[in-house]
Amino acid sequence: MTTPERRPLVAGNWKMNGGRADARGWAEAARVVADQTSNEVALFPPYPWLGLVLEAVGGAGAKVVVGGQACHPEPSGAFTGAVSAGMLADLGCKSVLCGHSERRHVFGESDDFVAKSMAAALEAGLVPVLCVGETAEEREAGQTEAVVARQLDAGLAVLRSGDDPLIVAYEPVWAIGTGNPATPKEAAEAHAFIRQRIAERDPERAATVRILYGGSVKPSNIDGFLAVPDVDGALVGGASLDPETFAPIACAKAGTADG
Ligand code: PGA
Repeated sequence: MTTPERRPLVAGNWKMNGGRADARGWAEAARVVADQTSNEVALFPPYPWLGLVLEAVGGAGAKVVVGGQACHPEPSGAFTGAVSAGMLADLGCKSVLCGHSERRHVFGESDDFVAKSMAAALEAGLVPVLCVGETAEEREAGQTEAVVARQLDAGLAVLRSGDDPLIVAYEPVWAIGTGNPATPKEAAEAHAFIRQRIAERDPERAATVRILYGGSVKPSNIDGFLAVPDVDGALVGGASLDPETFAPIACAKAGTADG
């Protein structure tokens, strides 16, 4: 279902990839693509390239949303290597990923840490993209819904009011960077569960919140995901590192899969 609030969003998460020239080229390409599609386009570059990416997409008021890949819960202090939500906002970022699976599983961010980083993002005026998803072992053990519910509830608990912005990304860990995406049916089940869980707290938010799918999204499978009523876009890793693969994903239309 595409409502104005649920305009499809395609976001590129570059992770720790690309040099300065790559970043400029990918950002300039995203700027062109954003003019060719009715979808919203967002980029999450590594911190050192945020400034040049913001400039390359057209500065303040640009169509392309630029955000950080994570933020620390605290506004400032002795946290070597970390970046605060306020710094991202000060630079011109509009959004930030909270609890991406690599932050949870490689860097050990807990549900509590992720929730606090989300609270910091809201406080700084950023749109948090709360990432949730189960590991292969958790899915095999029948714990998908329990894990997703736990991660989701921790994030939802820090929303201050129905007006706080939120985007959710469902990214099963086993599908990230593996070339083994969820099937549209698996995505449909998880997304419906997430929307229902949000509805239990706030039916209005559930009707308007965008829930992105992430995990091995490619030009060849994006239509299948966007055909799922509860999928409102995609968070794209590997395929966002080449404008030739990112552009067709960013321009994909909701509900156009064959069969
Ligand atoms: P992938 O990564 O598209 O390379 O699977 C997705 C993500 O981690 O956001």
